[in-house]
Amino acid sequence: MLRGSKVGLRARHEDDIPVLQADLYDDPVTHSRAQGSPWRPTMPGSKYSAVTVDDGAVSTAAFSVVDLGTEALVGTASLWGIDTHSRSAHLGVGILSSARGKGYGTDTVAVLCHYGFVVRGLHRLQIETLADNTAVLAMAENNGFVREGVMRSSAWVLGEFLDEALYGLLAEEWKPALPRS
Ligand SMILES: CC(C)(COP(=O)(O)OP(=O)(O)OC[C@H]1O[C@@H](n2cnc3c(N)ncnc32)[C@H](O)[C@@H]1OP(=O)(O)O)[C@@H](O)C(=O)NCCC(=O)NCCS
Repeated sequence: MLRGSKVGLRARHEDDIPVLQADLYDDPVTHSRAQGSPWRPTMPGSKYSAVTVDDGAVSTAAFSVVDLGTEALVGTASLWGIDTHSRSAHLGVGILSSARGKGYGTDTVAVLCHYGFVVRGLHRLQIETLADNTAVLAMAENNGFVREGVMRSSAWVLGEFLDEALYGLLAEEWKPALPRS
């Protein structure tokens, strides 16, 4: 397990899947605003669920996020689009609705940075989010990500095109908060 100050990032367990699916993916609005893909219903236990991990997919590293003290599941996190030529990747984070606003998201991004820069030797990490997703904007800025621009009308979300904000962090800019295991 990778440890931050509040969260641990570990492999997905079978019993995490229905909890993450129900809270983060089953609702069309929550899904559509966070995923950048069209919502569609998924059967319980489907291997096509967005929270089912394919260990053979080398361009993604997927984690479940747990509270460091209690080990209770609090969310999901990933590095995706890992590009080993240009040494870059994208970050994805989803915190269960009952666990939001307690700093778990910010600490999860910090641990993903450690994983990306130290464990994987990447040079650049980036976060794209809807420009009005203020929690993600704060989570990125809390971790030193630089706002690099706005991608105008880049996301089709429930009947309209919305802007996305692009944030990037380079290895040499990264200031790790804590030594991490
Ligand atoms: C975005 C998300 C991961 C943040 O997780 P979290 O654990 O609540 O984040 P934190 O507690 O670390 O808070 C991060 C910042 O967002 C702010 N914040 C949290 N919830 C907020 C809300 N509903 N509205 C506005 N700001 C909010 C916090 O105040 C904090 O800012 P601060 O440090 O300046 O005070 C969580 O809201 C989530 O999973 N949302 C749905 C999925 C999603 O949008 N994923 C991102 C796709 S790119």
